[in-house]
Amino acid sequence: MNTTPKWWQKAVIYEVYPRSFQDSDGDGIGDIPGLISRLDYIKSLGVDAIWLGPVFKSPQDDNGYDISDYQDIDPLFGSLADMKRLLDEANARGLKIIVDMVLNHTSDEHPWFMEAKKDRTNPKHDWYVWRDGTPDCPPNDMLSTFGGSAWQWCEDCQQFYFHQYSVKQPDLNWDNPEVRHALYDMMNWWADNGAGGFRLDVIDSVAKVPDEKITAEGPNLHKYIKEMSAAVLKGRDLVTVGECWSATPETAQLWSNPDGSELSMVFQFEHICLDQDGPFKWDLKKLPMADLKRVMRRWQTELTGKGWNSLFWENHDLPRIVSRWGDGSEKAATMLATVLFGMQGTPYIFQGQEIGMTNVKYELEDYRDIEIRNMAAERLADGYSLESVMESIHAKGRDNARTPMQWNAGENAGFTTGKPWIKVNPNYTTLNVEAQEKDPNSVLNYYRYLVQLRKEQDVIRDGDYTEIMPDWDNIFAYSRDDGNKKLTVLANFSGETVEYPAWTVDTAGEPILCNYGSWPEEGLLRPWEAVMYLK
Ligand code: GLC
Repeated sequence: MNTTPKWWQKAVIYEVYPRSFQDSDGDGIGDIPGLISRLDYIKSLGVDAIWLGPVFKSPQDDNGYDISDYQDIDPLFGSLADMKRLLDEANARGLKIIVDMVLNHTSDEHPWFMEAKKDRTNPKHDWYVWRDGTPDCPPNDMLSTFGGSAWQWCEDCQQFYFHQYSVKQPDLNWDNPEVRHALYDMMNWWADNGAGGFRLDVIDSVAKVPDEKITAEGPNLHKYIKEMSAAVLKGRDLVTVGECWSATPETAQLWSNPDGSELSMVFQFEHICLDQDGPFKWDLKKLPMADLKRVMRRWQTELTGKGWNSLFWENHDLPRIVSRWGDGSEKAATMLATVLFGMQGTPYIFQGQEIGMTNVKYELEDYRDIEIRNMAAERLADGYSLESVMESIHAKGRDNARTPMQWNAGENAGFTTGKPWIKVNPNYTTLNVEAQEKDPNSVLNYYRYLVQLRKEQDVIRDGDYTEIMPDWDNIFAYSRDDGNKKLTVLANFSGETVEYPAWTVDTAGEPILCNYGSWPEEGLLRPWEAVMYLK
């Protein structure tokens, strides 16, 4: 690598979904004081920063991704004073807070939109994306991610507004420089107040051109991101990660250019979409292993020296990885962690992933997510069976990740003394932080070891990536080599014992980690076994 390494290239980041992390006041919803009470736990994982899901004022149509005031905290989560205390307490522990910035849209209850919709001559009108039409004839057939048309008729100003997400999330018009500069000013305010970075929600959609049905990667996108970077990020040592469903290794080289002209890194989703059949996330197929390995290899090799990867299996929008690509067991959880943590990039742990939290199988009425509810209503009306709808939700629903954090075996898993906003996963009685703290071989302590390993071994940050046994269906194996050290990662991606020709893998050096209590036999991997060798 020819540039000086940045702190975030050796960092591990922990995502907190505030509503489900820790409640402090018994209303059944996680909050900032609750999170503050758990900072020592987060610190104990060895991570460097917390990506904090949105806690701003919001009608909560999309759990806070619909913001009505960027510079105040929703009373559900606490107050601005609580947020300042969180920033101080986290910074005092050496934990940066990465603020989740939703810049593509606001809530329809944001004062900007309330003004904008009044009439077409209002100075704020052009801050959103309006088109003429008649109530029964939207400008085009673009669909919202949460179902139905992406255009909503507004009685007040007799025009349609554009919303890529819910009707309560009108898209901002980034082509208006006033909008962009208002957002940059707000970001600077958070940075001045101690934010250590930003996670930028659906940032690849801001430069949309709806008339041409373009959402992601609009022609002005990188121009705007460079402008934002110059206005907010230059001169500050912030970490920034953009959520970019459209990113390819080529565009990621722009987004994460080592010259710092755009962001630190992006979340790309190519690997995450591999078990999807067709255009909708709800239609499932078996994970094609060869594709997973190919995609990971491509991202690993094509960004080296030219950009930077984020590494993740989970977040608040995705199902639990141990249920998705594993069998829900601790061995599968630690195997998946090993495969990810040996790669180049900045790893993200989503709350609960570090104890191997699993998906849930609730009844339809137990789900809270707007995306799940809208999909179920639409598909049931379209004649899909309840069984198939539930199968999709159980596999891919976002609420899988949003069940309360499982702290202990007590009431509501120690999450709240009240009624949790969404049901606790019933396996909390055995799968919880307290139980795993006591067990040196727990998933939790395994994650702690992996986090530590990344700090100690520069080869994990710098080494070149070479895939081993690319054609093996059950084995995920690769090496990392920085010319000084060589790390080999070998993992059985299945619940069966797998034999392989031992000569294909360079296991010279020391075995430094294995998710079984004993080292593997050469040429044999036990179910979900993972091992790392270092020489
Ligand atoms: C992002 C968020 C998701 C939200 C959507 C709209 O994908 O991660 O939770 O619903 O943007 O803001």
